[in-house]
Amino acid sequence: MKDYKVVSELSSKDKKVFKVESEGVFYILKEYPDETAKTKEVLAVGKIALTGYAPQVIEHEGNKAVYEYIEGENLHDAFRNATMLDDKQTMQLLATRLAIFLQIIYSFTDCVMKEIDFKNYVIKDGRIIGVDFSSVDNGMPYEDVASAISYALVNSVGEYYDSYPFIDKLLECSRLKLIDIINEISASLKKRKEKSRDGKDVEMMLDTLTQFQENGVDWHKLI
Ligand SMILES: Nc1ncnc2c1ncn2[C@@H]1O[C@H](COP(=O)(O)OP(=O)(O)OP(=O)(O)O)[C@@H](O)[C@H]1O
Ligand SMILES: [Mg+2]
Repeated sequence: MKDYKVVSELSSKDKKVFKVESEGVFYILKEYPDETAKTKEVLAVGKIALTGYAPQVIEHEGNKAVYEYIEGENLHDAFRNATMLDDKQTMQLLATRLAIFLQIIYSFTDCVMKEIDFKNYVIKDGRIIGVDFSSVDNGMPYEDVASAISYALVNSVGEYYDSYPFIDKLLECSRLKLIDIINEISASLKKRKEKSRDGKDVEMMLDTLTQFQENGVDWHKLI
């Protein structure tokens, strides 16, 4: 591998992630717990990079891989800003772009993202590009939609239903109805609840979602 100078450390959970530099160009260096984990992500990224929706794999060796650095706004920040400003148009645009990204994944791999964390996406030139494919696995596309919806509910600034324009658009683009995936959303919310600070809020969301399932309550009345 080339010599890379560490600029900053971006994460040190399962794997270590660094922003690095070599000959005036930034890259991302990931150090995985083992070579198997590295190979899994490198293979997924390599396939999707052909479409322009994942960074290029520059080189890899042992448990390390170097990727193209994607410069842009993080989806997590863009989403939170849009909910804070109650900017419905931006929320709808983000949902459409995420749906396009997911469609690309389903067209070029036989995997789904499995768990959607908006921090793993960067917006560049009007595209949502994935930068973390460590969770990809076999599964059904609607699991991704449910996971994205639960992320939106939990991370909305202000009231959780402020994220409704995002959710509505994502469902529309995915040709799904809330009722079709209510159980998956509940399961995903429960998983997130364990990690969330505001447990009470999530309880309320689950209750409301269950009511929707039972009574078919119109979400539009909430906002
Ligand atoms: N190719 C890239 N270009 C720009 N930023 C990136 C790139 N890869 C990763 N990042 C940034 O670094 C952060 C951490 O990387 P990554 O998501 O791969 O690790 P992680 O979050 O620790 O892993 P996991 O989500 O599996 O716990 C990302 O959320 C993203 O902000
Ligand atoms: Mg990540």
